[in-house]
Amino acid sequence: MNREDFLMLKDDIVYFDNAATTLKSKNMIDSMVKYYSLYTSNIHRGDYDAALLTNKMYEKTRDIVKEFLNIGNDYEVVFTSGATMSINQVVFGFFKKVLKKNDIILLTKAEHASNVLPWLKLKEEIGIDIRYIDLNSDFEIDMKSLDNLINEKVKVISIAHITNVIGDVRDINKISEICKKNNIYLNIDGAQSVAHKKIDLCNLDISFLSFSGHKLGGPTGVGVLVGKKELLDKMDPLCLGGGMNDSFNECEYKLKKIPTRFEAGTPPIAEVIGLGEAINYLMKIGMDNIYKHELELKEYLISKLESINDIVIYNRNSKSGIVSFNINGVFAQDVSIYLNYHKICVRAGNHCAKLLGDVLGIKNTVRISMYFYNTKKDVDKFIKIIKDYKKIYDVVI
Ligand code: ALA
Repeated sequence: MNREDFLMLKDDIVYFDNAATTLKSKNMIDSMVKYYSLYTSNIHRGDYDAALLTNKMYEKTRDIVKEFLNIGNDYEVVFTSGATMSINQVVFGFFKKVLKKNDIILLTKAEHASNVLPWLKLKEEIGIDIRYIDLNSDFEIDMKSLDNLINEKVKVISIAHITNVIGDVRDINKISEICKKNNIYLNIDGAQSVAHKKIDLCNLDISFLSFSGHKLGGPTGVGVLVGKKELLDKMDPLCLGGGMNDSFNECEYKLKKIPTRFEAGTPPIAEVIGLGEAINYLMKIGMDNIYKHELELKEYLISKLESINDIVIYNRNSKSGIVSFNINGVFAQDVSIYLNYHKICVRAGNHCAKLLGDVLGIKNTVRISMYFYNTKKDVDKFIKIIKDYKKIYDVVI
């Protein structure tokens, strides 16, 4: 890894908003520029050289994703516009077909809007029963609560692998065993985990996994839905059109096989190519190295942050590069404006996890989220500035 690969870092900023989106490497950007400049063409349509190369590059990314997640033979990879679309596709294309009124879906109050709102809409449409697994004092899943909630009406557990405010890593292996034993579908929102922690699908039994390209150094506008082949075979596409049908006449149509049937129209070709490049970059560094680095940085940051008066940290014990905190008596967004004045990028607010506020007892937090290009120097600069927080109202008017 070379920090110079990320041009934004040259500007001497501290970029601590990686849970919102990640910085892009020059290689990743170049791969998209190369497609646009040298071989622009559509996929699955042309017989000329540029079109054949485009097909090859597009499908190469599918293979890269398969290698990255060690997908094996049970799963297939579908390209979508992002994690949000992937989850919506699963909820309305698959679960709407297989669930019935009063079937129970288990979520937690730490879920992102993308893993709550589609379920609320499905509740409106077919009357599913949504229940929430309790969180413990560290705002992690309370496994006893989960055990107590399981009964024959529970059909789906839909949870983030790593949550976006607390940053806790859910034990999806253990939860997968519970699901298997009780015949429950396990739907994983991987938006905050796939970029940070190795996922090995040959050794993990889940129904679906959703994630976005832009949170792992790739472009916006592209995401992935990984699903068990036998489930994807039963799923309906939410979008129909060119490229995904085998044949149609005035009355009937026949769809192509998975995954093509879920990729109607012209997909985000350049973005898919960029996604492949971004994943290759991560694989070169190694996911275990990335995760280890983030945990070390988090420990370093927490040890310094804890010693500052008036700081409240909400997730001291979570095992990821996310740290959520407040300064007593200071509005979270004022802190982020103050940090921005010193070229430190963080996110403040409810972070789209609007149910979590009830559990935390506070609606807004300041969130630091780190990635492999962050350094102890970044942390030191942040700590120096935050120690001086009493100067905040010299900056925030
Ligand atoms: N889901 C993104 C975040 O947590 C946008 O910031």
